[in-house]
Amino acid sequence: MPKTLNIDPRVSIIEDRLESVKRIIAVTGFKGGIGKSVISVSLALALNEKGFKTGLFDMDFSGASGHIILNSAGSFPREDKGLIPPYVHGIKFMTAAYFSGDRALPLRGSSVSNAIKELLTVTIWDELDFLIMDMPPGINDTALDVIKLVKKAEILPVQIPSKISEDVLKRSIEIYRELGIKITGTVENMSASSKPGFYSQIFYDKALEKTLGCPEKIMKTCFYGDVLKLALKVSRTSKMSKREGEREKTRLVKQNGDIPGEVKK
Ligand SMILES: Nc1ncnc2c1ncn2[C@@H]1O[C@H](COP(=O)(O)OP(=O)(O)O)[C@@H](O)[C@H]1O
Ligand SMILES: [Mg+2]
Repeated sequence: MPKTLNIDPRVSIIEDRLESVKRIIAVTGFKGGIGKSVISVSLALALNEKGFKTGLFDMDFSGASGHIILNSAGSFPREDKGLIPPYVHGIKFMTAAYFSGDRALPLRGSSVSNAIKELLTVTIWDELDFLIMDMPPGINDTALDVIKLVKKAEILPVQIPSKISEDVLKRSIEIYRELGIKITGTVENMSASSKPGFYSQIFYDKALEKTLGCPEKIMKTCFYGDVLKLALKVSRTSKMSKREGEREKTRLVKQNGDIPGEVKK
């Protein structure tokens, strides 16, 4: 059988486009409605507040919601040999919603992958300390394509306190493990009590809902306070000492089974 040649020129262009981005964090989770988008947006805002040059890419083309949480109405990418994302509340923000308006994108299967490749190919991020990717739910074609295309991406899995969410996450982490993907650490969202073993916990905050669409208000919530702690931890992860890194790995292993894609040291 002849080997299939990878002649899609976009693949190498995507690598070039992301060359000046130091770290790419894909906020993922294995169900919808568990807080991936509010965490992605708030994590980007928090990293920016801490002085990091930060970008946010809404990869959930059919369920795009970053533009609603951030209220990016009136912003639009600029064209200059590609698309330059506008700054929205201090972060460079790219979403397919700029082009689809309020309509959902009727894309399926390979069309989603193609649309993602296209947007990754044309978006010019320039230098960034962090690029946060808000992922669609589950390990499906979209998620796997992103992981294959964006080799630097590390995974920040989100789960909620539910047996089902935990089980699905555990199985999905197996897949990432087989693919050799780096896992930064698991976040429990909507927590009701402190539990050891998580990289980070974000507590349920009933005040959050009313603040969506107004970043200044989001940044005053307890939810955001928890995300700030997560942001500090993520930003320090790369500077972890070997010992701290090993400790973090042990914690992840206890929680999720053996994880070779441990945190960056
Ligand atoms: N920690 C939290 N406390 C209160 N509400 C939350 C929390 N995390 C998420 N939510 C709410 O849950 C809903 C789903 O969040 P979203 O980020 O859209 O999930 P996903 O992106 O995983 O589908 C939103 O209405 C959001 O405000
Ligand atoms: Mg979402």
